[in-house]
Amino acid sequence: MVKEPIIFALTGKGGVGKTSLSSAFVRVLSEEHPDSRILAIDADPAVGLATTLGVSSGVTVDDIRNVFTQEVEEGQAAKAMELLGEARYRVEDAIVCKKNISFLAIGRPETSGCYCKVNAYLKEVISLLAKNFDYVVIDGEAGIEQVNRRVMEKVDHLILLSDASRKGIEVCRTILHVGEGMEMFASHELILNRILDVDSVKDMDLKGLNLISVIPNDVATAMADARGDSVFSWNEDDILLVKAREAMHRMLEQRGDK
Ligand SMILES: Nc1ncnc2c1ncn2[C@@H]1O[C@H](COP(=O)(O)OP(=O)(O)O)[C@@H](O)[C@H]1O
Ligand SMILES: [Mg+2]
Repeated sequence: MVKEPIIFALTGKGGVGKTSLSSAFVRVLSEEHPDSRILAIDADPAVGLATTLGVSSGVTVDDIRNVFTQEVEEGQAAKAMELLGEARYRVEDAIVCKKNISFLAIGRPETSGCYCKVNAYLKEVISLLAKNFDYVVIDGEAGIEQVNRRVMEKVDHLILLSDASRKGIEVCRTILHVGEGMEMFASHELILNRILDVDSVKDMDLKGLNLISVIPNDVATAMADARGDSVFSWNEDDILLVKAREAMHRMLEQRGDK
């Protein structure tokens, strides 16, 4: 029987810490499961995961898609079909490796026209590739639609990330609602990040979301980001890393996988 990967997707409004926490999860998985393979996917057009993981990003899935669509637009349908046949190898080539971590960037969203079939095909390719891994961590964008359309149809853990703002929680609620409509996830978790007053969380209206972690505002995290440091240079006991470890344990324990 083929073992399916455990897929985590992080979503939430801009600036809530999706990229920071995605990279922290990747580090935790990489350290605690050294014999496993981890695929980190940057699905946010705003990019940034490559920097926090300390890898140099190369070709994106969007670059690959553009080559196909260009051939189609130039009337080279046969050439485009041939290229599509090679899509798996092209996507494999776009993956950058570091220890037991592989990194893939999706790139920009569609610019013009609808290339739904090409997107659907590439998504199929990504899903097939993901089967070679034990864990997949997707750094998503504010909505879930981009992840659904271009990365994966279904994830195991939809991680909703918010700060203390009402807007942040509302965005999470909307993402959950859209994800439900798409039957996109097996379980969902809320993580509150950059919280200045941890005690105030008990008075917040979390709209029935499943809170699993509260991460305080941490100067070390912001400073590391300002310096462009990779997550691997963070201290063992940096609060974001400690909290990411706890949250990951909780999620895996709930699955009975740890
Ligand atoms: N717990 C935290 N405390 C302080 N700063 C944080 C924390 N988490 C993230 N940050 C900082 O907030 C900024 C936005 O984080 P980022 O991970 O890029 O968010 P997103 O990917 O959701 O846009 C970065 O400068 C990051 O270092
Ligand atoms: Mg980001």
